[in-house]
Amino acid sequence: MTTRTIRQIVPAQATSDGAGVALRRSIGTPALKNLDPFLMLDHFGSEDPDDYIAGFPDHPHRGFVTFTYMLDGHMEHRDSLGNQGDLKSGGAQWMKAASGVIHSEMPRQTEGRMRGFQLWINLPASEKMSDPAYQEFSPAAIPEVAADGVRVRILAGEHAGVRGAVDDPTTEVLYLDVHLGPGVRFERALAAGHNAFVYVYEGDAAVAERALPVHRLAVLGEGDSVAVLAGGEGARFILVAGRPIGEAIVQYGPFVMNTREEIEQAFADYRDGRLARVRAAMHAA
Ligand code: FE2
Repeated sequence: MTTRTIRQIVPAQATSDGAGVALRRSIGTPALKNLDPFLMLDHFGSEDPDDYIAGFPDHPHRGFVTFTYMLDGHMEHRDSLGNQGDLKSGGAQWMKAASGVIHSEMPRQTEGRMRGFQLWINLPASEKMSDPAYQEFSPAAIPEVAADGVRVRILAGEHAGVRGAVDDPTTEVLYLDVHLGPGVRFERALAAGHNAFVYVYEGDAAVAERALPVHRLAVLGEGDSVAVLAGGEGARFILVAGRPIGEAIVQYGPFVMNTREEIEQAFADYRDGRLARVRAAMHAA
């Protein structure tokens, strides 16, 4: 096996989105515009309600998948498909926006810690205008494997023979939340040719013997395995990999298509109320 080394370390940039939610962005910044098929990674995390309470009121998406993983806190989701979700600590939500979804993501808590990730995963041209779909997973619905100082929550893909919550045939996304005790080493195979990254959100680690501090994203180079060693206080990180799509990416805010004309069409459809097929359902709810 060839162990993947770190190709690039991307510090997460402080920014805000929605109605003023403070977050750290790594993928989707000038240092790393995208990592095919991944378009954006936001890490929100604060003890201060002022940083999150305004939430993400109604907004559209077209052309990709949003995958939200809640570490701490409580968020309510409503969308134009009529879904009303309740995302709690340890739970996740896979939303294939595809041809169009309008949704809101609003905190239900008014105090304490809110922490989690939102990852945008691109769709190939053949699926960008397909029907939207929504899957929500309670904390208990996410399989876990724990042994020898390693605890792995399997959000998508497969680990140690256990299938994760999400099975994604399009880009074969692997998404693991890994907790390592102090000095513990974690190693596993990764599909050769798939793009992959590690993002440390607690403690610190080393990937292929190169230090990776907290709030940094490591883009992994080529190879067919990854090895992560936790520092003296342990480490928590997400390990994500996926098959690149290899198509042109034209992104404008919440729309990600293959051509500029398709982006203009998305704006026109949104303006004319055609973006989400059952937009009215949301406002009737
Ligand atoms: Fe959204």
